[in-house]
Formats: sequence, C-alpha cells, structure tokens
Amino acid sequence: MASLATTAAAAAATSPLLPSATKHRVSLSTSPSFSLPPLSSLKCLRSSPLVSHLFLHQKRSSVRVSTAGYSTVASPNCLASDPDQLKSAREDIKELLKTEFCHPILVRLGWHDAGTYNKNIEEWPQRGGANGSLRFEIELRHAANAGLVNALKLLQPIKDKYSGVTYADLFQLASATAVEEAGGPKLPMKYGRMDVSEPDQCPEEGRLPDAGPPSPAAHLREVFYRMGLSNKEIVALSGAHTLGRSRPERSGWGKPETKYTKDGPGAPGGQSWTVQWLKFDNFYFKDIKERRDEDLLVLPTDAVLFEDPSFKVYAEKYAEDQDEFFKDYAEAHAKLSNLGAKFDPPEGISIDDGPAKTAPEKFVAAEYSSGKRELSDGMKQKIRAEYEAIGGSPDKPLQSNYFLNIMIVIAVLAFLTSLFGN
Ligand code: HEM
Repeated sequence: MASLATTAAAAAATSPLLPSATKHRVSLSTSPSFSLPPLSSLKCLRSSPLVSHLFLHQKRSSVRVSTAGYSTVASPNCLASDPDQLKSAREDIKELLKTEFCHPILVRLGWHDAGTYNKNIEEWPQRGGANGSLRFEIELRHAANAGLVNALKLLQPIKDKYSGVTYADLFQLASATAVEEAGGPKLPMKYGRMDVSEPDQCPEEGRLPDAGPPSPAAHLREVFYRMGLSNKEIVALSGAHTLGRSRPERSGWGKPETKYTKDGPGAPGGQSWTVQWLKFDNFYFKDIKERRDEDLLVLPTDAVLFEDPSFKVYAEKYAEDQDEFFKDYAEAHAKLSNLGAKFDPPEGISIDDGPAKTAPEKFVAAEYSSGKRELSDGMKQKIRAEYEAIGGSPDKPLQSNYFLNIMIVIAVLAFLTSLFGN
C-alpha cells in the first residue's frame, strides 16, 4: 500500500485480471492538513528503573498541537498503561462502536501501527511496530495510511479521558474490541505498550504492503516475513477484510459505492469484500473463492491467497471451517498486536478476568473408575479391592446406608469389647 496511488492507476491500465477490483485515480491530498507538532524536548525517562517507578503512577502530561479538527500529540511521556483505565476505555470503545459503526477502520488503525515492524532491527523504536507512532502527522501522511486520521479523531476523546492509557495500547485495544464486538473470536490480548514520544521516532514510509504489486505472493511474503509472520498468519490476518470497505479516494482501490455500501451504516460508499461488512465471519474466504458478485472487492493480494499453493491450503480451510479461521485469526491478531512493542511490565497486563471460578469437583466414584481420569492401574485395583471388601463395586457408587451400617457394626463391636474386656 506504500504507493497505492500510482500502483492502482498503473494496474488499472494494464490488468485485465481483476474485474471486481475497480481502480480509480487517487488524490492523496485529501487528508487534512496538519502542522507538525514541535519536537518535544523532554526525553523518555523510562530507561531508568528507578525513574520508571517514580513516574508510573504520576499523571501523564502531553503537549497538544491543535490542527484542523484533530490534535497530534508530542507526548513527553513513554509510560505504559493503567489496567483500570484500560478496562474503562474498552467500555467507551464499545459505546463508540454502537453509534459510529467504525469497527473496520479501528482494525485497520491497529494493524497499520503494528505492521511497520522490522524483525531485523533490534532497537526500539527504530524497529517499528505497535508503539503509537501512527498518531503523528508525518506517519499519517504515508500513502498507506490515507483516511486513518478519521480513526484517530474518533479515539481522541477516549484518549483525553484516560491519560493513563498509551496511544499504542489504545490502538490495539480499539482494534481487538472492534473484532470481538463484530462477532469475531475472543483475542488473547495483553497491554502495557509504551508510546514513542516524538515524530522523528516514526518509521520511514514503505513498510506496509501494497495491494497491487507485480508479484503479489512474493510481495506479501517479503513484507510479512520481515514482521516475523508465517504463510498461515498472512492468510489468517487477510481475513480481517471480512470487515470494511475500500474507498477510491483513499487507497485508489474499490468502487465509489455498491449496493452493499450506498446506505452505510456509517459514511456511505466504498466497496466491501463481503455483503455483511460489519460482521466478522469467514465470508471473506468464501466470497473470494466463488467470485460471483461484481459488487464485492478482490484485491490482487486477496486473489493470490487462492492461487499460491502455500497460501491456498489455509484459504481453502478457512472458507470451509469458520472455527479454524477464528482460532488461527485470534492467535495471529494477538501476535501482530505485540510486534515491536515495548511492554511495561515486560510480561504485559491482562485486562481479562481470569477463567470463571467453578464449583469444587465432586468425587464421583464411578467416574474415577471409568478410566477417564489417568489413575495408575495399581490405584484402580486398590480402589476396586476396597469396594469389594465391603460388598460394593466402583462401577456402582455406594449407597449411604452402607456407611451407616458399618458405623453401627463398629460401634456395637466397640461396646462389646469394652463390656467383655472388663
Ligand atoms: C495483506 C496485505 C494487505 C493489503 C495489501 C491491504 C490493503 C488494504 C486496502 C487497499 C484497504 C482499503 C483502504 C481504504 O481505501 O480505505 C484496506 C482496508 C482494510 N484493511 Fe487491509 N490490507 C492488507 C492486510 C490487512 C490486515 C493484515 C488487516 C488486519 C489484520 C487489514 C485490515 C483492513 C480493514 C479492516 C480494512 C477496512 C477499513 C475500512 O473499512 O475503513 N488489512 N486494506
């Protein structure tokens, strides 16, 4: 997507292969104009463990630079997030989704912040990834990020409300919440990502994939392998296109509107990959496979998932089996969201309540003897012998009056012993 404007126009002129990926000339001057925030003179103090402790619970401050409707932030802090505020922010995101139907663009925002990761660079933040750098105008202006300023505008009030949530976490939280609220799988997310603090810490342009490269399979491998992701993860993550639309005025791809998008919800227009483009399911794979509907989008990088043998095996599986797709997508999404991130604490923060506490297991004798539990053969024999000694069987739980009878016999014996013993 790094040079989609030119690529899309070139591909439109030359490629007869993609009837449903209508290409239009794109003007990238549509993004609002911003003035770059001044470089913060305050440096990240997080590298010192002592200082990090002192700062962890302090109120975070930031330098806001107001621009046309949206403020980019040169934040002097690079602190990680507060768990309670993360949970509250998640509730606010759910409310936002109910009114704005912005699930797709929030997913794209999270992916574009994380997807700049380069596994061959060790230093943070030069390695890119989920570090909140996408809030800066310089990165928002990358061609691949056209339109994402709208996602930031939607999230900024939530960021303002929760100063204890970093941008890096907020982007990933919003994306994960959007997937789950759209009916997708529960994602095994963790939080605690630290933010970069200055625009000059943004990655250079060109790290995200292009939708119409000369060799889509090779291109996808080059870009995603650089992130440390596999063929399976490329295919699973592409399934996120089950949500949303492509807009010619942003990326250069897609029709201006279709029968599925002309009435919204949300801002009307664009071309979706699926009919129900606010529902997270496996129809992306089903629809690409069948290609029956001219109103549904298939980018060259989508089409190749059913052409390249090492992608096809997964694409076919996901088209057949939504559970398999959900399982692989959940793992791949969480992995993507962690790329390049610097966590504080290093193991990250979970904001999901642990597994529901279950009642203590009842001891059911027949269950233990059924072989379902891995008791040793010796133990099974012992249990059986003990049952048989009192005329029972491990396959048939004892009635409570057996115990009563035994107790009575013992009491009588004890009484007689004491009587005659004297
Ligand atoms: C495989 C390489 C990928 C390419 C070439 C690609 C390309 C694109 C393009 C051209 C658009 C249309 C943007 C617009 O016009 O507004 C788009 C939208 C979108 N992409 Fe991707 N994408 C890729 C992978 C991903 C991944 C890995 C995810 C998430 C995990 C993702 C999530 C989305 C979503 C949700 C939208 C819809 C946004 C909206 O409706 O506003 N994409 N993508």
